Amino acid sequence: MVNFAAASLVGLSCLSTIISAAPFVFDNNPFGKNFPNPDKNQISAIQTQAHGSIPNAKPPATVKPSTLTTLRFIAFNEIFEVAFYTQLIQNITNYVPGYEIKDEKKKQKLLANLVAIQAQEEVHALNANNALKNFKVDPIQPCKYSFPVDNVNDAIALASTFTDLVLGTLQDIEQTLAMDGDAGLTRGVAAVIGQEGEQNGYFRTFGGKIASALPFLTTSTRDFAFSALNQAFVIKDSCPNSKDITLKIFNPLTVDVGDLPKDPKPQNIKFSFQLPEGGVKPEWKSDWTGLSLAYINQQNVPVKAQLSGVKVDGSKVSFEALFPFDAGTFGNGLTVAALVNADADFSTAVTVSNSTTVFGPALIEVN
Ligand SMILES: *[C@@H]1O[C@H](CO)[C@@H](O)[C@H](O)[C@H]1NC(C)=O
Ligand SMILES: *[C@@H]1O[C@H](CO)[C@@H](O)[C@H](O)[C@H]1NC(C)=O
Repeated sequence: MVNFAAASLVGLSCLSTIISAAPFVFDNNPFGKNFPNPDKNQISAIQTQAHGSIPNAKPPATVKPSTLTTLRFIAFNEIFEVAFYTQLIQNITNYVPGYEIKDEKKKQKLLANLVAIQAQEEVHALNANNALKNFKVDPIQPCKYSFPVDNVNDAIALASTFTDLVLGTLQDIEQTLAMDGDAGLTRGVAAVIGQEGEQNGYFRTFGGKIASALPFLTTSTRDFAFSALNQAFVIKDSCPNSKDITLKIFNPLTVDVGDLPKDPKPQNIKFSFQLPEGGVKPEWKSDWTGLSLAYINQQNVPVKAQLSGVKVDGSKVSFEALFPFDAGTFGNGLTVAALVNADADFSTAVTVSNSTTVFGPALIEVN
């Protein structure tokens, strides 16, 4: 199980001891590709490494404003992914402690996959930014990043988790494109969904799991994904123009699942969050029944769980909630958890994400 929100909080609380690694920045042009502004020759090298090209078909003449938000989000996410895979390749190649792979064959196979994946993410990012330029708006620029992992196995597990979240979010993107009548972009997005799914099959296999997690992958929303990226990976205030992305950044919700057994049973899971400015809100009620936990898993109606054992320690609130695992119906693969007002509309991931109060997402991975 992996939870990058929790991991990032651990990272923050141990700042003085583990921040030896400087934030990742593109400025020093790590692979000589001048990303995210490669010239013609560099683009052609990237495409060769990616085993394929930026689509050369003409984009639609115009798109709706919410589709511009989507394209900006896609660029923001893909640039983050490029940063992650760039640093991961550097760590493995440079024998960084925790990233040494003794078995040379295994190492070469992993690097061959990661080099292609890194370049494929570059192509995705360039395509989204080209679309923005085509619509006469500013392309998204890179932020500074840090990653809450320090060894190869955790790094690949983390890649699998954020890829799962992206796979859920691209569903939200397809639906919003459809609702807004921007059908011209849906084929390309569907092509990326399959592509990221292939990546994740490899990551899951690397981690000793079966390649395909679920019959219908867990859904998510753009707000959840934008929140997770900002909470876990982006160095605060380091993004030149992420303000152009009019999505929400929720307050974090941390999950501590410990070591769930391979065959988990219904069980309580521990969560915590920091009180926002102004402290406990009256609508949460003195017995905390004003808040509920939402578990989003697969394509099913979100599951509502009550808070139990709530404890307030300074500004930290911790509680437990039942994770009603059932091998056939609930809890395998990615579960997106969020703490919301108890009277929220629990009918879909989108209505949960649109609740008046939202802490999250906390990401839980099983099997
Ligand atoms: C690369 O290694 C450094 C040093 O351990 C670590 O801080 C960073 O998170 C690693 N990056 C990735 C993507 O694994
Ligand atoms: C959710 O909120 C977004 C942005 O405010 C809005 O466009 C959308 O219609 C809402 N959807 C639902 C199902 O509430």
